[in-house]
Amino acid sequence: MRLNVGIIGAGRIGKIHVDNLRAIPQIRVKSVSDVAIGSLQEWANERQIEVLTTNYSDILNDTEIDAVFICSPTNTHSRIIKEAALAGKHIFCEKPVSFAVEDTKSALQAVEQAGVKLQVGFNRRFDANFLKVRQLVQEGIIGTPHTLRITSRDPEPPSLEYIQSSGGLFMDMTIHDFDMARYIMGSEVVEVFANGAVLVDPLIGDAGDIDTAIISLKFANGALGVIENSRRAAYGYDQRLEVFGDKGAAKADNNRATTVEVSTSAHVTKEKPLYFFLERYTQAYIDEVNQFVRAVLENQQVCCSGFDGLQAERIAQAAKKSLETGAPVQLQLNEKSEAAIK
Ligand SMILES: NC(=O)c1ccc[n+]([C@@H]2O[C@H](COP(=O)([O-])OP(=O)(O)OC[C@H]3O[C@@H](n4cnc5c(N)ncnc54)[C@H](O)[C@@H]3O)[C@@H](O)[C@H]2O)c1
Repeated sequence: MRLNVGIIGAGRIGKIHVDNLRAIPQIRVKSVSDVAIGSLQEWANERQIEVLTTNYSDILNDTEIDAVFICSPTNTHSRIIKEAALAGKHIFCEKPVSFAVEDTKSALQAVEQAGVKLQVGFNRRFDANFLKVRQLVQEGIIGTPHTLRITSRDPEPPSLEYIQSSGGLFMDMTIHDFDMARYIMGSEVVEVFANGAVLVDPLIGDAGDIDTAIISLKFANGALGVIENSRRAAYGYDQRLEVFGDKGAAKADNNRATTVEVSTSAHVTKEKPLYFFLERYTQAYIDEVNQFVRAVLENQQVCCSGFDGLQAERIAQAAKKSLETGAPVQLQLNEKSEAAIK
């Protein structure tokens, strides 16, 4: 069986998904929509994209299209999800689903009513190192988890224009770490206490955002966690985590271009971490689209559901509230949440 796919938004991440999808034999990337297609014509021709349009409704109205990838800016996601679900398309949506929990809930309702699949683009779940740590935790190799430490630092901040429409550090960047925290620990976050600062670029502060954060978490299983974020690490993309339990610890380090270590009388050196997300998560992006395609073709569950997207947003919203009030913020649990994360 073949799957006809349309891409909505062909910027940084949309283009990656197009190339990864084109490498899957059962996939035909038929259409791409972007509000600015002027510079995309040559790129689309090189990839045999048959339809290039400024209006994403052209994709939703195309009865040949089975699935859409929503890779436009976040403030468009929930609206497009609802319209795509109504049109009966399966949906892969980039993170976050929306900036507001209520918008996300109504988008998820539309998906449920339509009976289509929705996968959210938390690509780090597919990173081989993080996946291995999750498996070790699940198998009980490190015993009962006591603490989680996530380090997540970008090599450089995005443009100010991007920052202004990003929803802020917690919703745009830490959202990946919030998802990773509940995924790795297999338990929901029940309390968030966030501290933030503007130490990288005062213009980020002028835009109403922060560029540095330390966030404390409490999980439903009693464990504690800490996430450390910076928008700029001088040495590249710093993505590490460690889970510590009563029988031991498991940690995932950065990926480097080579593992060569050079020792001289003056220094012992090794390569810097891979530069940014496109380099570090190359394989994870490939694996997440393959998993989505398999889920649609074989009618399996997606790995990262709309509910996972919602839970990460709830934590991000709580972190924002904590930063504003200077106090810890509690999150309510429900039966579905603990069952879904296992
Ligand atoms: N999972 C990840 O690792 C990852 C990485 C980067 C971005 N993202 C997410 O992907 C989304 C896009 O981010 P980006 O960095 O690719 O941004 P980008 O600005 O590079 O690309 C967005 C594209 O969408 C187009 N666009 C805007 N409105 C549109 C509309 N109504 N219809 C069709 N196209 C439209 C823009 O012209 C632009 O080409 C964001 O939600 C972001 O959070 C995820």
